[in-house]
Amino acid sequence: MNPTNFGFSLHAQDGAARTGEITMPRGRIRTPAFMPVGTAATVKAMYASQVRELGADVVLGNTYHLMLRPGAERMARLGGLHRFMQWDGPILTDSGGFQVMSLSALRKIDETGVTFRSHIDGTAYEMSPERSIEIQGLLGSDIQMQLDECVRLPAERAEIEKAMRLSLRWAERCRVAFGEQPGKAMFGIVQGGDLTDLRAESARELVDLDLKGYAIGGLAVGEPQAVMFTMIEATEPHLPQNKPRYLMGVGTPDDILGAVARGIDMFDCVMPTRAGRHGLAYTRNGRVNLRNARWAEAIEPLDELSSCPAARDYSRAYLHHLVRSNEILGMMLLTWNNLAYYQDLMAGARAAIREGRFVDYCAETREGWARSEK
Ligand code: GUN
Repeated sequence: MNPTNFGFSLHAQDGAARTGEITMPRGRIRTPAFMPVGTAATVKAMYASQVRELGADVVLGNTYHLMLRPGAERMARLGGLHRFMQWDGPILTDSGGFQVMSLSALRKIDETGVTFRSHIDGTAYEMSPERSIEIQGLLGSDIQMQLDECVRLPAERAEIEKAMRLSLRWAERCRVAFGEQPGKAMFGIVQGGDLTDLRAESARELVDLDLKGYAIGGLAVGEPQAVMFTMIEATEPHLPQNKPRYLMGVGTPDDILGAVARGIDMFDCVMPTRAGRHGLAYTRNGRVNLRNARWAEAIEPLDELSSCPAARDYSRAYLHHLVRSNEILGMMLLTWNNLAYYQDLMAGARAAIREGRFVDYCAETREGWARSEK
């Protein structure tokens, strides 16, 4: 039987890498976890049941997109996001601030919150930290994110510091708005750009709020991988061992292994789904661009040893043909393949951490990628 409270337990540690389990009423999340992105109440080109069968325990939804269409109050009247999209497991929702800054027009941020115009029809909206939490509640989200401000890099210290402090004040307001919801969680988001002292300060102040989990935001926004890893290393020692850590919007398989090695438990990224819609496949032997003419008569599949029929049962020539012809099935098969690859990567990482061989697992996995087409 599922628990009535949100909980997190660690099962094994290997260096800084950890494996464990988040438990909550809608089910467990095995960590390290990769959360497929279901922005508009769909993991694009996938049935929810397929996503589940690949081993995903949780999917991500977006406050920004869903508040615009179909609308938060309408979603609540329709019985919430889980029922709407036929996903009965946990759902984590991002708070909206990040998407407002990247997608909407005429956006403005001040102490009260964000104001913006919809990228769909230009309608004006205001969203305070309290309204973001209210919307996430109307959607029925199980893990809700605080509203925050993410600064694109490179940026000046003053701008990074201002956004980090505003995000801290918003975290406190979101915590009050969220209140006590035993089966659910609200996570804070560490900001601080590429400055280690600001990252440490942001983490310490958030930890004082005693939240259920902590995300690291403001990364994968144009900085090199080495900077991202340094920022994780500057943040991680300040976060409590007994709470989940979530690196937002990351990343490539290599980014994920590097972040798991530095103590991160949760990830989300559009990469496997978006790449799949653009003809790019992730495999044990690296990335394969199926648009490339070299696959026009290739009878071999993407990976005959894969657990996923999309990788095993179709020739590269067929996938190439579908991609070149812009056929919907091409996007479906490659998305399926890519999400299977990401979920298998995480399952492999969890097993390796449990067995104390995570370093070897990373080395073997990277050797496989090195066999990639160039
Ligand atoms: N997704 C990727 N990065 C971020 C971030 O910094 N903040 C939020 N809210 N979402 C993100």
